[in-house]
Amino acid sequence: MEKVDVLLGLQWGDEGKGKVVDVLTPKYELVCRFQGGPNAGHTLEFENQKFVLRSIPSGIFQGDKINIIGNGVVLDPALFKAEAEALEAAGHKLTDRLYISKKAHLILPTHRFLDAAYESAKGSGKIGTTGKGIGPTYTDKVSRNGLRVGDILHNFEEKYRNAIDRHKRILASYQFEYDLPAIEKEWLEGIEYLKKFHIVDSEHVINKSLRAGKKILAEGAQGTMLDVDFGSYPFVTSSNTICAGACTGLGVAPRNIGNVFGIFKAYCTRVGAGPFPTELFDETGDKMCEIGHEFGSVTGRRRRCGWIDLVALKYAVMINGVNKLIMMKSDVLDTFDTIKACVAYRIEGETVTDFPFDLTDGAEPVYKELPGWKTDMTKMSSEAEFPKAFTDYVKFLEDYLETPVAIVSVGPDREQTIVRSSF
Ligand code: GDP
Ligand code: IMO
Ligand code: MG
Repeated sequence: MEKVDVLLGLQWGDEGKGKVVDVLTPKYELVCRFQGGPNAGHTLEFENQKFVLRSIPSGIFQGDKINIIGNGVVLDPALFKAEAEALEAAGHKLTDRLYISKKAHLILPTHRFLDAAYESAKGSGKIGTTGKGIGPTYTDKVSRNGLRVGDILHNFEEKYRNAIDRHKRILASYQFEYDLPAIEKEWLEGIEYLKKFHIVDSEHVINKSLRAGKKILAEGAQGTMLDVDFGSYPFVTSSNTICAGACTGLGVAPRNIGNVFGIFKAYCTRVGAGPFPTELFDETGDKMCEIGHEFGSVTGRRRRCGWIDLVALKYAVMINGVNKLIMMKSDVLDTFDTIKACVAYRIEGETVTDFPFDLTDGAEPVYKELPGWKTDMTKMSSEAEFPKAFTDYVKFLEDYLETPVAIVSVGPDREQTIVRSSF
């Protein structure tokens, strides 16, 4: 019996998950998304092409691998159709290789309106969601009001109308104005389009594949600090982004989880509101943003930038049971004279190294400063080429996090990936 390897983000999302899933896919037979929805934007670059995936797993470009949208995902049929059609137009055949779980929940057109209504009702406390209806869809799932992909196969019309009527009543109570006909037709076309794909009991497909000795990679969305239980609540997404989410989001028993690949940027970013202790408001932060092209792949919003936060990262390694680290975007720091890493917080006069309950009361970072490597690493292809200051930085991270850095990414392209001997 094989085990499922899990790849997930350790920060506030956008660590580069899509790129690395694509790089690792040749080692696997199935690639599965287990949570989140089109709030995700996973970027892949290869052969001078660039794709941003929202709901479709990032294993879709490598040969004839099976890709599964698992039960833990929330799916917007209209956005899915647009995404799938764009890939098909670029010559990537999907229908035989992309399976969708019957148990994945549907994002209804009114969920988007509810997302906007809840956000505006929060006023200055708003989360800065992606506006894709993620929170309201998961809310309906947990309150047992949701519609699932499997529902489209029988008497869908009635279930849909009931759900929409219920949402209309909530929207009226928020006095929220919206134009349902403007998006409903496209959404219903999306429902018809979904029927072209294999709509399956994905937990059976996955477990039978494991028993048949097939290798499976689970692809996380968002990041650990956006997890609904362990992230910077309430400034989080509405799903479990952590490793345990792969168990519930795919139907895999905990003992059938294998490697846990934790992916992080050599610095740190965050989109949307919420605490971010190492955030920089100076030219160093601007430089990270500019060199790293830190603008959201979904919303185009400028990502907030700051130094790496090892207090949060160590917490993420612990919660997920990460056994291999993957460091992304180190090239963005290639020209920096010094690199800082937050090794503790000062909170009300105390030095804290265990990630605390609440960051909003002001956690002031305590930094360790390391020399920059001042070397263009973007064309390097093996760890033997690493400059000493870079190797020292990686060693420092490994010691602090007590976990090996197995892959280093030195640019957005598939080829700019250095797999180390510790992989
Ligand atoms: P994801 O959501 O975790 O898949 O990450 P995103 O795609 O939202 O954001 C990562 C961004 O960084 C994308 O624009 C990638 O093309 C880019 N990227 C990934 N790895 C690297 C890297 O090592 N160096 C640089 N400079 N860019 C990278
Ligand atoms: P990937 O998979 C970065 C953030 C939003 C907002 C909060 C809640 O590309 O890493 P939501 O729409 O989920 O209710 O928004 O979570 N967020 C992300 N930030 N990367 C993502 O996905 C994100 N998905 C959601 O900006 O702060
Ligand atoms: Mg992203």
